[in-house]
Amino acid sequence: MYSNTLLTLAALGAVTSAFDLPDNLKQIYDNHRSGNCQNALSDAFSGGAVYCGDIPNAIFLKGSSGNYDNMDIDCDGANNSAGACSNDPSGQGETAFKDTVQSFGIDDLDANIHPYVVFGNEGADPSFSPEQFGMQPLSVMAVVCNNQVFYGIWGDTNGFTSTGESAISMGNLCFPNDGLTGDNGHDPKDVLYIGFMGQQAVPGADGANWSAGNTADFENSIKSLGDSLVAGLQA
Ligand SMILES: *[C@@H]1O[C@H](CO)[C@@H](O)[C@H](O)[C@H]1NC(C)=O
Ligand SMILES: *[C@@H]1O[C@H](CO)[C@@H](O)[C@H](O)[C@H]1NC(C)=O
Repeated sequence: MYSNTLLTLAALGAVTSAFDLPDNLKQIYDNHRSGNCQNALSDAFSGGAVYCGDIPNAIFLKGSSGNYDNMDIDCDGANNSAGACSNDPSGQGETAFKDTVQSFGIDDLDANIHPYVVFGNEGADPSFSPEQFGMQPLSVMAVVCNNQVFYGIWGDTNGFTSTGESAISMGNLCFPNDGLTGDNGHDPKDVLYIGFMGQQAVPGADGANWSAGNTADFENSIKSLGDSLVAGLQA
């Protein structure tokens, strides 16, 4: 147990140092933080954020001036009561694209392993469908948090009006010292979630290590795709 923990920390440490913000993404983060979204793709959601089209070929969550969004912790999917997810009050059985995930050889995404992002609000008022704007399910997303960028998968949608939510594994990449759990998220609205339009962002069955046994292995498998998507963003 103890040595496992050390190994995990060592692996995460290695990942962390490789995930420094590239210049164009740092500029994007700084440039869009103040002011309001100019090209809102949705109405404002309960936390104040809109889905915003101000970055070409991308969709991001933009709060009021000075803000992006917070990070609520989601535990849906396989093992949704495992580990720090055991107290998730909203834990549901499955993630939105489970049928496709199963064609990748696993039962469902595992919030403790796959750093997925909850993006889009279905059956709520207001609602927002990223697919209507060209995002593909299970495509790679970039999450700027704590002065770093980590890559996630668009793996779930919210059934209500909450925005700014990701799997606990993403929370632990971003804020490893915050003691995040299923009902203890990151409240400051300083997290930038970026989705990418089109098939180019989809790793598919072979482009990611879906059966990875830990977050570091999964993250390594999508890093080069994520880096190339970010490199294509206009600062
Ligand atoms: C997680 O879920 C998978 C498949 O549903 C299962 O095989 C595995 O034993 C579970 N792991 C834990 C730690 O619960
Ligand atoms: C995928 O992850 C598993 C388990 O974490 C690891 O053993 C394997 O080497 C990884 N595969 C690739 C292709 O990286």
